[in-house]
Amino acid sequence: MCGIIAYVGDKPSAGKILFKGLHALEYRGYDSSGIALLNERNNIKVFKKKGIVKLAEKKFLKEKLNSNIGIGHTRWATHGEPNNKNSHPILSYSKNFAIVHNGIIENYSSLKQILLEKGYEFNTDTDTEVLINYIEEIYNKSGSNFENALSTALRQIRGAFAIAIINKKTPKYLYGARRGSPLVVGIAEKKFFLASDASPIIKYTNDVIYLKDNEIVKVSSENLKITNLKKEKINPEIKKIELKIEEIEKGGFDSFMLKEIMEQPKSIKRSMLGRINVNTKSLFINGINDYVNKLLNARRIIIVGCGTSWHAGLVAEYFFEKYTRIPVEVEYASEFRYRNPILNSNDVVFFISQSGETADTLESVKITKKKGATALGIVNSVGSSIARATDEGCYLHAGPEIGVASTKAFTSQLIILFMIGVRLARRLDKIKEKKYVEMIYQLDNIPKLVKEILKKKNIIKNIAKIIYKKKSCLYMARGTNYPVGLEGALKLKEISYIHAEGYPAAELKHGPIALLEKGTPVIVICTRSDEYEKTIANIEEVKARKAMVIAILDSKNKHVSKMVDHSIVIPQIKNDFSPILNIIPLQLLAYYVTKYKGLDVDKPRNLAKSVTVE
Ligand code: M6R
Repeated sequence: MCGIIAYVGDKPSAGKILFKGLHALEYRGYDSSGIALLNERNNIKVFKKKGIVKLAEKKFLKEKLNSNIGIGHTRWATHGEPNNKNSHPILSYSKNFAIVHNGIIENYSSLKQILLEKGYEFNTDTDTEVLINYIEEIYNKSGSNFENALSTALRQIRGAFAIAIINKKTPKYLYGARRGSPLVVGIAEKKFFLASDASPIIKYTNDVIYLKDNEIVKVSSENLKITNLKKEKINPEIKKIELKIEEIEKGGFDSFMLKEIMEQPKSIKRSMLGRINVNTKSLFINGINDYVNKLLNARRIIIVGCGTSWHAGLVAEYFFEKYTRIPVEVEYASEFRYRNPILNSNDVVFFISQSGETADTLESVKITKKKGATALGIVNSVGSSIARATDEGCYLHAGPEIGVASTKAFTSQLIILFMIGVRLARRLDKIKEKKYVEMIYQLDNIPKLVKEILKKKNIIKNIAKIIYKKKSCLYMARGTNYPVGLEGALKLKEISYIHAEGYPAAELKHGPIALLEKGTPVIVICTRSDEYEKTIANIEEVKARKAMVIAILDSKNKHVSKMVDHSIVIPQIKNDFSPILNIIPLQLLAYYVTKYKGLDVDKPRNLAKSVTVE
């Protein structure tokens, strides 16, 4: 949610560097974008515009201003509608300071009142303008030391922020700070960068510092200094990032989403690498080794996440309870954090997050640890806030996911959760060695089966052509595939804007069946399971209302295709693992429907990839 990039260095190419960075960060928000540079006359020049990065860049290219220092921002609007005026960077009242901000200042209205009484005027509807004016006010009052003013102001701020600031008073220095929202410092030869994530800086350096909450960074082209809000100096830890440039490029695909869908055989394999070995018939849950005993003795397991990550948690609930017999609860992070959950040291809480930056999930980790329970992460982004805040965790190793609709992260989350479940079940002796080994073989075979499904993309494309003009779609499934129905519906609605809902198949007649009309698409997951005949009965109920049934079937129950309007037949796998296969056609369906509608699959309206505000 909002992307920040800032640069200071010995080369006067700040403008170019910042726009390159904004293109890499655009997936975090694309309501508007802009940059601010200090020119040689020490004035701050701002180039910003509503809409995608290219539009603000066009403005900059007309002037091509050379500068050694600047800040840039791509916005997902919180306070103030997405328009030119509310775009970042935002200037302070005196125009001496410019800021970019990711997060929400909760006490902005009381601060604004104080500033209004002192004669400040405001040009935007943003909380960010209040913040920069408040910093300016303290700077003016407290004897013109910018560092001191910044820490004093930030101590009085409630809410979340990652900020970067340039100013006319100390023109060689770039300032940054964070609380809640992410900020990474990139260190290169006579150059420093501040960014919301590593993607815009890997071109220049692999050396980074992950700024911690309530830390302030001050950099020139020569020096770096980090302090906390008490003005104490911090000795930072420099980390190496292993991201490769190809991983954040489209690689010949028309969109990141399609690239990420097609990449799944590889990304799932990467998630299993070093963890599963069919030759030695072994499975290790690297990453959470120190907490296996805690898990084996857990009173219950709680799984916390949002959106797609929450859906992965629901699949795990079915799997863990069936095979480990440990009670499992799955919670939305946004609810969990505010309901004073009853937790103690006998509970183990898993936090699932692709970005590792989701504000509600991060806050839930803090609450869990405060209450003495164990917090384990299942996170994709290496070095992210949730990965660092949890006691231990398993990285997905799925590689960067840039398309706003989560795809490969979901299948990697599932494979990790399945591996954890299988390992725990064996350690608890709930499954015998023979079954354990069988399961290891089945898990290992999944990438091959995913590859086979991806080959069927044209069948799915043809179905998309039939339904892309529809207004509403229902998804139904049973048992472990019910969350896959929810995930399929989420994929469709978030990128194609077609209303879509997922339901347990038997629930349809408790209300949603009233929505069915002649031709309403109902997507049914009906791969072979103990309950699949009951799902067939539900298909009959839907057909009786003349809805259009699209079924996901497997090679063992192909015969069902005669009963439905359209079918997608995928390879057969043990029902417990079937969610990881069944979601693939649903991802492709959402993708093709959106393409037929002529919409941007990677940048759906109103959304951003990483939700760093609550
Ligand atoms: O980064 P996270 O996994 O914590 O993100 C959670 C949700 O915001 C995310 O899954 C969202 O629902 C996606 N847009 C779904 O495709």
